[in-house]
Amino acid sequence: MLKVAATPTTPALVLRPWCAEDVAALVEVYRDAELRRWTNSRMESEDDGLRWVQDQEQGWAAGSRFAFAVLERALDAAPLRLVGNVVLKEVASGKPSAEVGYWTAAQARGRGVAQRALNTLTAWAFDAFQANGLECLELLHQVDNLASCRVAEKNGYQFDRLLPSAPPSYPLDGHVHVRRQLPDAFPSAPANAHFSA
Ligand SMILES: CC(C)(COP(=O)(O)OP(=O)(O)OC[C@H]1O[C@@H](n2cnc3c(N)ncnc32)[C@H](O)[C@@H]1OP(=O)(O)O)[C@@H](O)C(=O)NCCC(=O)NCCS
Repeated sequence: MLKVAATPTTPALVLRPWCAEDVAALVEVYRDAELRRWTNSRMESEDDGLRWVQDQEQGWAAGSRFAFAVLERALDAAPLRLVGNVVLKEVASGKPSAEVGYWTAAQARGRGVAQRALNTLTAWAFDAFQANGLECLELLHQVDNLASCRVAEKNGYQFDRLLPSAPPSYPLDGHVHVRRQLPDAFPSAPANAHFSA
């Protein structure tokens, strides 16, 4: 589990592996057209949600894909609620690069959830996998996904190259952003983030 402390204006975040209890909230979040537009997971029913969660669990078990549900507690006594997803994928021992991805639930957008969650995932990824040969992280988005481009830049993922379109799945070109190690300008984790077992 990874924790990100509250800021003066936003609640704390908890990042933890997806589990079956998340399915109903996951399916609800996926009703959003914007999320459907930019992701390609089928999410019409609780069965789809359960299959998706099981895929994430298999990724953790295989050591190749690490998806975290991003949760926040709006008020002190309130239950944690699902606000996003961050994932480290394409991980293999000795492989120098891996990929990150993310989404934020519609009602939680525009207040730094993706930026803070990705920052924490990035720090965790280098911390956990540098010894296995991880040197850089890649982030891919379609050219017209300006919010995603901004999240990349805010986290020190610099634009690296254009990715040609591949219709029908990818009708427009993409951006590949790369973050190599942890330059001083982007410290490994914000002062308000910490990891716990
Ligand atoms: C992209 C996404 C994850 C951003 O999540 P978020 O929690 O709102 O992100 P943040 O609040 O950390 O930052 C968003 C930034 O994008 C900017 N932004 C939002 N919409 C924008 C737009 N249409 N054009 C330009 N910038 C935009 C915001 O102003 C903010 O930048 P700022 O902090 O400098 O003001 C969210 O919009 C989303 O889930 N989209 C659908 C799924 C998706 O696209 N996933 C990524 C696939 S590559």
